[in-house]
Amino acid sequence: MAILVCGGAGYVGSHCLEGLRQAGFDCIVVDNLTRGHRAAVGDTPLYVGDISDPAFMDQVFAEHSIEAVLHFAAASQVGESMKDPLLYYENNLCATVALLRAMERHDVKKIVFSSSAAVYGEPEITPIVEDSPKSPTNTYGETKLAMERLMHWCHTAYGLEYVSLRYFNAAGASPGGLIGEDHTPETHLIPLVLQAAQGKRESVSIFGTDYPTPDGTCIRDYIHTSDLASAHRLALEYLLRGGKSEIFNLGSEHGLSVREIVEAAREVTGVDFPVKLAPRRAGDPAVLIASNRKAREVLGWVPQHSDAHTILASAWKWHRDHPNGFDDK
Ligand code: UFG
Repeated sequence: MAILVCGGAGYVGSHCLEGLRQAGFDCIVVDNLTRGHRAAVGDTPLYVGDISDPAFMDQVFAEHSIEAVLHFAAASQVGESMKDPLLYYENNLCATVALLRAMERHDVKKIVFSSSAAVYGEPEITPIVEDSPKSPTNTYGETKLAMERLMHWCHTAYGLEYVSLRYFNAAGASPGGLIGEDHTPETHLIPLVLQAAQGKRESVSIFGTDYPTPDGTCIRDYIHTSDLASAHRLALEYLLRGGKSEIFNLGSEHGLSVREIVEAAREVTGVDFPVKLAPRRAGDPAVLIASNRKAREVLGWVPQHSDAHTILASAWKWHRDHPNGFDDK
C-alpha cells in the first residue's frame, strides 16, 4: 500500500514527504512541476502531471494500491490570488474536485489536506481556535475554505475521511540540508531577509510600522517545516487507524514581529543587512497566532523546532548551500 502525495515537489509537500519516508511510509508523488522542483522529491517515484487530468490520475491509481492521499497541490500566493482569482478557483478548487472525483472512482477514502490560517481573515480573538469565525480577506483563503467545505460534503455523501491542517506561517528548511524554500517570485519574509543577508537584494522592506503591536510591525506565528512534517505524519496515522474527519490549526502559539525576525536573522547570519520602512501591505492582519491545543490533544503533536533561531538557522543553511535554490528552472 502506498501514500499518494499530490504536490510533493513543493515547499511544504517535499518536507512532509521526507518526514513520511523517514517514518517508513511507501510514497509516490504527483506534481505538475509548475511551481515544484524535481530535485525536491529525491528518489521518490514522481509522476509529472496534473491532478485535474482524469486519465493521468486513473493511470497513477491503477499502477499503485493507494491507501491515502496527502494533498499539497495548490497555488499559495495571496497577492497573486487577488490579481487572478480565476487561476485560484481553477488551480485550487476545480483541481481538488477532480482529485476527489479520482479518489472516489478508485475507492480511496482518506485524505490529509493543506489548509491555511488565511481561512480566518482578520481575527476577532487571539489565539485563533479552529471554530473561530472564518472570513477570508483574499481569494487564496477563500479557495482553501471552499476546499474544506467540499471535503465536508464528500464526507457526508461518500464517507470520505479528511484531516484539514491549517498552517500558520510555514518556515525553515529540512535539517538534512537537501530541501528548502525556493519560490519564484519570492514574497515571504524569511527567505527575503536571508537573500538580503546574502547580498542578493539590497534591502528588505518592513511593511507597516504603525500596527497596534508592541513594536508597530505585524506579528505572525512561524511554524517550522519539520513540525509541519510531524503533524502530517500524525494526521495520516490518525486517519489510518480509523480517526474521523477533523480540522486542526498548525502553529507554535508564539508570535514574532517583523522586526524580531529581522533582528534574529541579523544575529543568525552575522550580517547587518539594511531594512527600509515601507507602508502597510494591503490585506495584512496585525496579529495571527494559532491555538494548537486541538492538534496537541487529538493528534499528540508537539512542535519542537519552531523557535526563531532554529527556523532561521535551518533556512540560512539552505540558502548558503543553495544560492540558486534548486537551480532547475
Ligand atoms: N513582510 C514584510 N516585508 C516583506 C515581506 C513580508 O514586512 O518583504 C511582512 C508581511 O507584511 C507580514 C509578515 O512579514 O506581516 C509575513 O509575511 P509573509 O509574506 O512571509 O507571510 P504572510 O503572513 O503574508 O502569509 C503566509 C502565507 C500565506 C498564508 C498566511 C497565513 O504565505 O499563504 O501566512 O497566515 F495564508
